[in-house]
Amino acid sequence: MTTAETKEMSDMPKIRFMPMDVEVEVEEGTAILDAALDNNIRIDHNCGGNCACSTCHVIIEKGFDELAERSEDEIDMLDEAEGLTETSRLACQAKITQDLIVRIPDKESTWDDDTF
Ligand code: FES
Repeated sequence: MTTAETKEMSDMPKIRFMPMDVEVEVEEGTAILDAALDNNIRIDHNCGGNCACSTCHVIIEKGFDELAERSEDEIDMLDEAEGLTETSRLACQAKITQDLIVRIPDKESTWDDDTF
C-alpha cells in the first residue's frame, strides 16, 4: 500500500458500533445500515432499507448533529421504534459524513456473538 492509499483510507469516516465496540471505516455517504451489514454487524432491516419499518433503529451516541436532518418519513417510522431517544435514527436512512458512534439497541436480538 502506498502512502497516498494509506492517507486516503485514514481520511474515511469511522463508525464505531456499540455495544460490540467494533470500529470500521466507510466511504462518505454510506448508510449506517450498509456500513454494518458490509462488516458482518447485524442490524435488523425488515423492510430492506426502504424507510417502511423501524427495525433498523439505532441511537447515535456521537456525531448526531453532523448527520443530515431526518425526513418526515423517517420521523414517522421512528415513532414506532422501541426505546426512542432524541438521537435516534433509522440506520437505513442516515448517511455517514463524519465519524460516528452508533449504539444498536437490544443486543440479544441484533447481534450475533459468533460473527466475530
Ligand atoms: S430497514 Fe426498514 S426502515 Fe430501515
